[in-house]
Amino acid sequence: MAKLLYICASPMGERSYSTRAADAFVAAYRKAHTGDTVETLNLWKADLPEFDLTTASGKYAILHGKSHSAEEAAAWQGVVKAIDHFKSFDKYLISSPMWNFGLPYRLKHYLDIIIQPGLTFSFDPATGYTGLVTGKPVMLVLARGGEYPAGTPAAAYDHQRPYLELLMGFIGFTDIRAAVIEPTLAGPDKAEASLAAAVASLAKAAEGF
Ligand SMILES: Cc1cc2nc3c(=O)[nH]c(=O)nc-3n(C[C@H](O)[C@H](O)[C@H](O)COP(=O)(O)O)c2cc1C
Repeated sequence: MAKLLYICASPMGERSYSTRAADAFVAAYRKAHTGDTVETLNLWKADLPEFDLTTASGKYAILHGKSHSAEEAAAWQGVVKAIDHFKSFDKYLISSPMWNFGLPYRLKHYLDIIIQPGLTFSFDPATGYTGLVTGKPVMLVLARGGEYPAGTPAAAYDHQRPYLELLMGFIGFTDIRAAVIEPTLAGPDKAEASLAAAVASLAKAAEGF
């Protein structure tokens, strides 16, 4: 029995294209994998630990091989708890809007928490960085108001998909799949057609996920 973590990064609920497409993936996944469990992490409702002075000092202490102060240890426990939760799953689904050509700040906040040395990646001067979250698939479901087709000048503005793929790869994912809904702000016809195409491909993808 596998566990799927669904990380939802749009605040728009039922009006969100990324959420609607990801919900279709989850519905198809549940149908195809009846023994599996799906947990939803809505980043707009989650109580994420702050990455403030104490927490950042805790990170630098690890990077510099120093021990934590009592305050840093307590703050770092919140980070470790979030990472333990993240790593306890077998498969991942992340749905996200494009905001200012990148990720919404709640998703960036979550990624800033879970991408940590010794926990989700390691560094060795001889071999460089190694991701520690391995052997697990992730599906990205991404909505954006405009269009950023590969090979066009607009693609250079896309700091959503390449960045998310880079970060997932950095922490060890090699099976990174994606569905894109665009352009969602060019009128309902184009938006709904793109959503329908994404839903159809995600329903299929969910079966073999
Ligand atoms: C704060 C904010 C910033 C946005 N920035 C961009 C952007 O840079 N490029 C773009 O194509 N669309 C942008 N949009 C439009 C959203 O990407 C679009 O509405 C998308 O459908 C949002 O995903 P959702 O429907 O899942 O919430 C922005 C929307 C908001 C609210």
